[in-house]
Amino acid sequence: MGMMPTLAEHPLRPLAAIQPFWIGPLKVDPPVLQAPMAGYTNFAYRQIVREFGGAGLQATEMISALGFLAQEERENELPDRLWGVADEARPLAVQVWDNDPARLAAVGARLAHEFRVSVVDINFGCPVKQVTEKAHSGSYLLKTPDRVGAIVERVAAACAPTPVTAKIRLGCTRDKINAVDVAQVVEQAGGAALTVHGRTAQDFFKGSADWERIAEIKPYLKRIPLIGNGDLCTAEQALHALTHYAVDGVMIARAALGKPWLFRQVQAALRGEPIPPDLTPLEERELLLHHFDLVVQRFGETKGTLLMRKFACCYAQGRPHAREFRTRVSRVARVAEFIEVVERYFPCEAHPLWRTGPAGPCDSDEPDGCCETP
Ligand SMILES: Cc1cc2nc3c(=O)[nH]c(=O)nc-3n(C[C@H](O)[C@H](O)[C@H](O)COP(=O)(O)O)c2cc1C
Repeated sequence: MGMMPTLAEHPLRPLAAIQPFWIGPLKVDPPVLQAPMAGYTNFAYRQIVREFGGAGLQATEMISALGFLAQEERENELPDRLWGVADEARPLAVQVWDNDPARLAAVGARLAHEFRVSVVDINFGCPVKQVTEKAHSGSYLLKTPDRVGAIVERVAAACAPTPVTAKIRLGCTRDKINAVDVAQVVEQAGGAALTVHGRTAQDFFKGSADWERIAEIKPYLKRIPLIGNGDLCTAEQALHALTHYAVDGVMIARAALGKPWLFRQVQAALRGEPIPPDLTPLEERELLLHHFDLVVQRFGETKGTLLMRKFACCYAQGRPHAREFRTRVSRVARVAEFIEVVERYFPCEAHPLWRTGPAGPCDSDEPDGCCETP
């Protein structure tokens, strides 16, 4: 994760001018959103973010409309990715993906009217081949703004009065950046907000998010808010984006995986209050075990432990001697093993190498990228 790329020199507005914004009838307060992340932003993660507070709107993982309908027909069951959605606190956005307006509308309507979610978000940004090349969905749809419009229109009509939003990238490739066109299409089709990740699909996660390009979209939107996304890793960076770029809100993804308290820090910074410190390593270890507990309660020992390996890596990221912990935790298969490895090796003061080892607490091992790949 790099630093913010092009830092506009002069603030566009003072801190006091940063206000909550509206997605249809929903007030997003503070104007800082927790991004959807497949494989990560399940109920357990959202619950932990909620416990710390500070996210104005939280999102689920992306849910396949085709998969939703097929699973329901075949097994009379709902996708795992809807875990928690029926009962958890609001506001909550559920993200869906597909390329078929009718399927998306059918699933959107269910989410809006039956589950009563706050927002139905449509994914037009995913660059993964399974979604683009195989299913002609996600960022593949940026090639055909008309189809984006047809989808948003149909889903917005099916979900009303629940707002429908879109999440896009700048374009498919660097030489085909068309976010301004797509943004206008989304607005005209009845979308209630637009989130833009400042990279193209071709970039995947390489290079830096282009915040200048995100802000260029703002004058073209007459009615709906613009949410900027990409490479915000600290409260200071989130504040910088909000004060220096023409966006109504910011969305944070990867940096908040190992630091679910980041939203609380941004919220304090926005209020002009001192930024609460990061968790101590011991507090973080407790949090990881709490997270593990939530996941195992739902998915059971085998699947739950497997799922938590990657979260454990995220929590350890940036800590000294994290490498040894990651290597060990990546092999555990049982609850008792997981707890033992966390208690013995999670990088914290109790760890024998913490004070004596070559890396001091301010240095970090090379990240293994566990939080960097979709
Ligand atoms: C592991 C992973 C999974 C992701 N899954 C989704 C997803 O389901 N839907 C989506 O719109 N974006 C997804 N994204 C993209 C993020 O929401 C976000 O746009 C991107 O990571 C840039 O923000 P960041 O620099 O704050 O991480 C994913 C990203 C990662 C790293």
